[in-house]
This record gives sequence, C-alpha cells and structure tokens, in this order.
Amino acid sequence: MGTEKQFKPKIYTDPDKSSDFVIRRCTTKDLDAVIEVNEAELPEDYPYFFYKSILDHYPESFLVATDPHNKNKIVGYIMWRIEKTPTLSNLRLDKKGHLVSIAISQDYRRKRIATKLLKKSMPAIRTNGISSYVLEVRISNYSAIELYKKLDFKVDRIKENYYRDGENAYYMVKKV
Ligand code: ACO
Ligand code: ZN
Repeated sequence: MGTEKQFKPKIYTDPDKSSDFVIRRCTTKDLDAVIEVNEAELPEDYPYFFYKSILDHYPESFLVATDPHNKNKIVGYIMWRIEKTPTLSNLRLDKKGHLVSIAISQDYRRKRIATKLLKKSMPAIRTNGISSYVLEVRISNYSAIELYKKLDFKVDRIKENYYRDGENAYYMVKKV
C-alpha cells in the first residue's frame, strides 16, 4: 500500500549542503531539545539553569539548526559566552568570545551545519566588543579540530588535565 511519498529518499540537492536546514535563534522552548542533542553527542553535560543563563545573557549567539523535512526537529546548537579578564594595566577589561558548546546530531553530520552555526553566531557574539574567539577542544576530537582549523582557529596552547576524565584540551584562538 506504500505511497510514493513514503519511500521517497531524502535528497539534499543543494551543493551547499547546509541550506536544507534552518538556522535560527534558540528560545526557552527549545532548551529541552538542545539538552537532548548535547547529552547524545558530548560527555560534557550541564544543568538546565546553565543553558537558561547562557540564553538569557547571550541570546543573539545561541543558535539552533532545525530540519524542515522532519517536523523542524532540532539537530544542532551552538552557544557562546563572554569572558572578561583584567588587562595588565587594569584600566580596562579584555573581552573574549568563548565557545561554550557546539554539537550536531550524528545523522546530520558533514552537511556543513556546524560551519553555518559558527559563521552565523560569530558576528553576533562579536558585537560585544571582543578581541578574540576562544575555545577548548579534546585533543582526540579530530573532527572538531578540523572544523575549527578550517575557520582559521589556531592552537594557542594545551590545557593539561582539562576534562574530568583527565584528557588534555587544545586552547584554540582566532583574533577578530
Ligand atoms: N572527519 C574529518 N573532518 C571533519 C569531520 C570528520 N568526522 N567532521 C567535520 N570535519 C571538518 C571537515 O573539514 C569539514 O569539511 P568537509 O565536510 O568539507 O570536509 C569541516 O570540518 C566542516 O564540517 P561540518 O559539516 O560543518 O561539521 P558537522 O556539522 O558535521 O559538525 C562537529 C562537526 C560539531 C564537530 C560534529 O562532529 C559533532 O557534533 N561532534 C560531537 C560534538 C563535538 O565534538 N562538539 C565539539 C566539542 S568542542 C566545543 O564544543 C567547544
Ligand atoms: Zn570552554
């Protein structure tokens, strides 16, 4: 009895594979779905209030990717925060855009969704007057490191024992 529709394979026709997905700002209603993606894809989990606080403070750079072919399901997210550190002179604070977390659901990888999330959120967090974009990534996380390198992030140094399981992190930086 199957209709043609049921068996039609999903074809991503655009050469820019990410344009079949919608990138938009996260809302409070999306947070449970964002947390679901995070818990499936990353060992670093955060409590609900942490996400909520990032959303309250930095809504312009907290983005989600949704699949319009699958009930607008949330398939990825990105969130940033601002890190303020005193400068040597102490006359002003240096601000950095800190990439808190990014993840894409397994079935949706390698379609440039992460690239698009980064490219759309970076100008947004930059409006806070930052000197650089920074992030930590597990030294074993080859795919993420490749992604960041493609966007011109450079390894600045290693943070030893950064993760709870003892793994080291690369601290990667991109000047604005
Ligand atoms: N192997 C090699 N290179 C890769 C891979 C991979 N598995 N994945 C991405 N890349 C590189 C490639 O150069 C790729 O370009 P190409 O496809 O033209 O070769 C480029 O990155 C861009 O890839 P995207 O398609 O934009 O990346 P994707 O949407 O698949 O998401 C991500 C990448 C976020 C790292 C994804 O694999 C993921 O969610 N991983 C689990 C969660 C995670 O590790 N998040 C980062 C933690 S660090 C932090 O959050 C600060
Ligand atoms: Zn960090």
